[in-house]
Amino acid sequence: MKYTLSAIKPVVKKKYYLLLFSFFLPFLLSILFWHYDWKKIISASLLVLLTNVFLCERVAESNRFFKMHFQYTLTFYVILNLSAFFCLAISAYFGFELLSTYFGVALIAILFGRKLGQVSAIFLFFVFSLAYPSHWAFLFSSLLVGYITAELTRNVKRRIELSLVSFFIAAIQIGLYLLLILFGFESFRMDFLWKIAVIPPISTIFVIGLLPYIEWISRIYSNIGLLELGNLNHPVLKLLITRAPGTYFHSTVLASFAEVAAEKIGCNPILARVGSFFHDIGKITRPDYFTENQEAENPHDRIKPQISHLVLSDHIKSGIELAQKYRLPLLFEDMVAQHHGTRIQTFFYNKAKETDPDVKEAAFRYEGPKPSFKESGILMLADSCEAALKSMGKPDSEKVRSVIKQIVLGIFGERELDNSGLSLSDLENIEDAFVGVYLNQNRTRIPYPQNNLWFEAPAKNRRNERKNEKE
Ligand SMILES: [Fe+2]
Ligand SMILES: [Fe+2]
Repeated sequence: MKYTLSAIKPVVKKKYYLLLFSFFLPFLLSILFWHYDWKKIISASLLVLLTNVFLCERVAESNRFFKMHFQYTLTFYVILNLSAFFCLAISAYFGFELLSTYFGVALIAILFGRKLGQVSAIFLFFVFSLAYPSHWAFLFSSLLVGYITAELTRNVKRRIELSLVSFFIAAIQIGLYLLLILFGFESFRMDFLWKIAVIPPISTIFVIGLLPYIEWISRIYSNIGLLELGNLNHPVLKLLITRAPGTYFHSTVLASFAEVAAEKIGCNPILARVGSFFHDIGKITRPDYFTENQEAENPHDRIKPQISHLVLSDHIKSGIELAQKYRLPLLFEDMVAQHHGTRIQTFFYNKAKETDPDVKEAAFRYEGPKPSFKESGILMLADSCEAALKSMGKPDSEKVRSVIKQIVLGIFGERELDNSGLSLSDLENIEDAFVGVYLNQNRTRIPYPQNNLWFEAPAKNRRNERKNEKE
């Protein structure tokens, strides 16, 4: 993809960054604890390298987004290493009892999901053990805390949920500390107890405070950040509603399609919904060239189909530029780029064929790429289904189902969904979800009785009516 960090691709391929990250933390540890003992630095670097190669990389490779953008790998390792260093630095000055996996694991689980959060807990356990080998039992309890933290924070959608989790984790940490005392691994100290209790809630303040900066710099968004973008107050959406109201309406309607479908097949409904709001932002540049914004005149009647094709394709490029300008999530940029895949602009292709029968199909295709993750594939399907259903007036439920099926199978047959990770059973579920959403959205209301237009009467009349009723 043109718009990825192509300059550092060779580094990514050869994974030199692993060496860098594996040496970085032991070197910092040497400053804090080992007084530049090179033997310790090298042996610790080897241990960290092995943990990175056999643990972090394995799990990261199973994540689609890590394969798509090096930014994910970079952000993951930076957060992991800095959070480890941050915790160790605090423990070096205020005592080992302040060591907790909560901060690093919560940040990583919120941004990258449960699996990477749990891997981070193991990583942090190894690194903390290097600094405090005699307190391995206490650190092992921190590993358990990390596992639970990853489980509880992966789906956090509101900041208050995270705060509540932190109090729960604090209670678990205290419980585990008391157990360690019971089994003779640690001795009881009152100051340890309250330090262990306050670390998760205080860490939460830092997690919540740091998230917007991490999201803005890395363009990797948590669900909290995505929901903030989805409140429809973003400047790009404001531009869309004023310049291309038809596109704005289309985006909000198809967002419901995408959200329900994503929920049904078990991927991220927030990413699907909020990404849908932004998928056609490129239409802001020339809104009149898109049917949903046209009133009477169609500018395409005045230009050649080849030019129409260029104008339509341009909404992808403009969308990518806007996504970069406003630092929207990397995945939104992908959704903008991929939502038409490499499909043909059939209308203009057929129009061109009328004057030149030899015109090439390839000349009327979008540049792509094809959808590369499930939410992006759902968006492509929802986009086509919403547009087709809208042009049909009021179809009955059978007709709706058959049209949606036809479109989904058509796009599948064109092999546009090959890289999306959507299976055939996913497609069936998506069809069901689309049918359900469309029928729910288009339920007719019972008409108001014609002879009782009380709600339409001016306020003065209403007052008179009330007076009469009382009398
Ligand atoms: Fe589009
Ligand atoms: Fe669209």
